[in-house]
Amino acid sequence: MSNKQILRSEDVLQKYGESLVGKTVLITGVSNESIAGELAIQLASVSPKLLILSARAESKVTPVINQIKQKNANVGTLFLNMDLSDFSSIRKAAQDGLAGVSKIDHLICVAGVMICPYGKTVDGFETQLGVNYLSNFLLIKLLLPKIEVAGPSASIIVVSSSSVRSGKIHFDDIGFSEGKTYDSYAAYGQSNAARTMFAKKLPEKLKGKGIRIFSIDPGAVQSGLQRHFTEDFQAQVGEMMKAGYLIDMDGKKFDFPPWTSRSEGAANIITGMIDPTIAG
Ligand SMILES: NC(=O)c1ccc[n+]([C@@H]2O[C@H](COP(=O)([O-])OP(=O)(O)OC[C@H]3O[C@@H](n4cnc5c(N)ncnc54)[C@H](OP(=O)(O)O)[C@@H]3O)[C@@H](O)[C@H]2O)c1
Repeated sequence: MSNKQILRSEDVLQKYGESLVGKTVLITGVSNESIAGELAIQLASVSPKLLILSARAESKVTPVINQIKQKNANVGTLFLNMDLSDFSSIRKAAQDGLAGVSKIDHLICVAGVMICPYGKTVDGFETQLGVNYLSNFLLIKLLLPKIEVAGPSASIIVVSSSSVRSGKIHFDDIGFSEGKTYDSYAAYGQSNAARTMFAKKLPEKLKGKGIRIFSIDPGAVQSGLQRHFTEDFQAQVGEMMKAGYLIDMDGKKFDFPPWTSRSEGAANIITGMIDPTIAG
């Protein structure tokens, strides 16, 4: 029998949420149907000072802000307009959008795309690599000074996926020959390998600064992410779920996670941010 326990955000916040009182949290990928949107609404219950909510359209964030205000009118909110497929938009957000913010206690990089049709970012990178990984690299680099100011309780969370287990970097052809050899699942795996290895390497670079850094797999969460799932792919997922396992790049089986709610997906992120039992 499995001894795994699936926690809701409410459970983790009840235990450790106190440490978020008065903090400033920046979250990317906020919308009414995303894990990031749910995370923002959940965090409102523990009275952070400011929730900086990033998306590429304000209309995505407005319904989330309304729910935050209903939950806790004292929480400050700031919409940060940022398109993660455009480095100039990230630079502009970091410089102008956050000009009035002197410290960020928790930087939570949740935004991402999954198995989308082939495309390129404004800067010419394959979309999934660009949005899921390169954008996080640049954003974290630009915001490091504000995170360092926050001190030892600060965190950087990079949301990734269990697809990292079958994902690899295609060093000889990272852009899938301008789309000619594009395999959307391989590209998703590549982007997750990149963002996971980045989160593993970053603590070495930031040694001694006391910043918690984790990559997080939210599990299998019903959200807007499934928008590019074809019927064929859904059938494939159904088969894998029935079998109960997936196979990693070394041919080893690993458990297929059960479908969970967004609260349960966000709980993994909150654990990464504040659970003291995994500090260090
Ligand atoms: N759901 C799961 O089962 C699952 C499993 C493993 C990992 N993940 C990871 O979890 C993260 C969150 O996914 P989710 O389930 O919450 O999916 P979601 O509902 O699709 O949310 C993703 C968010 O990222 C935003 N985004 C996409 N491209 C962007 C861009 N160029 N610039 C700015 N924002 C952009 C989307 O905004 P728009 O609406 O503007 O596109 C959306 O708000 C992703 O990184 C995903 O890979 C999810």
